[in-house]
Amino acid sequence: MLSNILKRISGKIALSFSYQAEDIVALDLTLKANASDIEIFTLDTFKHFKECLEYHKTIESFYRVEIKKYEPNESRVSELESRLGEFGIRESLENRRECCRVRKVEPLERALRGKAAWITGLRAAQSPTRSALQTIEFDERRDLLKINPLALWSETDVFEYIKRNKLPINPLYNRGFKSVGCAPCTRAVKDGEGARAGRWWWENPEHKECGLHIRETA
Ligand code: ADX
Ligand code: SF4
Repeated sequence: MLSNILKRISGKIALSFSYQAEDIVALDLTLKANASDIEIFTLDTFKHFKECLEYHKTIESFYRVEIKKYEPNESRVSELESRLGEFGIRESLENRRECCRVRKVEPLERALRGKAAWITGLRAAQSPTRSALQTIEFDERRDLLKINPLALWSETDVFEYIKRNKLPINPLYNRGFKSVGCAPCTRAVKDGEGARAGRWWWENPEHKECGLHIRETA
């Protein structure tokens, strides 16, 4: 299905890669779909775990591809750091969202500019904020097709695919992480805890979105 959709798109297709299990599956499916004119990109927040930076290189050599980095505006980052300090993001939801806006959302807008479609690793089962997610959506504000090939997949489906296809996985998954984001905002989870329990763990589940995937039609 992915292959049929991608070959009908004229224009550049972007695939966002955030070092998570879902992303390696989405990337593998996309490359196997033989799509042309794909840009694989990551949003480098300057706050990634060192394991993610190593994994970046592992994936580039595994598939012989380039994962382009989009970085935040340096002067906005310095202003944010001097105002909020190292842990100001945990002091209020507004502070945390501002950090996500500067480090992730604004660079994402640049990454998607001029693209015809955007492939993500989102799954509906990941959180209450994603329950209405569909495999193909239209992002009206950005005027592009948003393709979520794993929208209806379970966590088990993801790991079975990885195992069956012998895909390299971020080493953090072997250290108790079940979802991966920036280092100050992600921790390992205990047995029985949900995958996203380790993301922004001090916030309520309905707030756990960084602003990349605001749903306008949900
Ligand atoms: S978030 O909104 O909570 O940060 P999540 O980590 O679940 O999102 O990732 C969902 C999808 O968003 C990923 O599969 C990927 O497509 C995209 N994404 C999230 N963070 C990044 C990032 N730093 N760089 C590139 N893509 C990202
Ligand atoms: Fe900042 Fe944390 Fe958002 Fe990363 S996840 S951009 S460190 S608030």
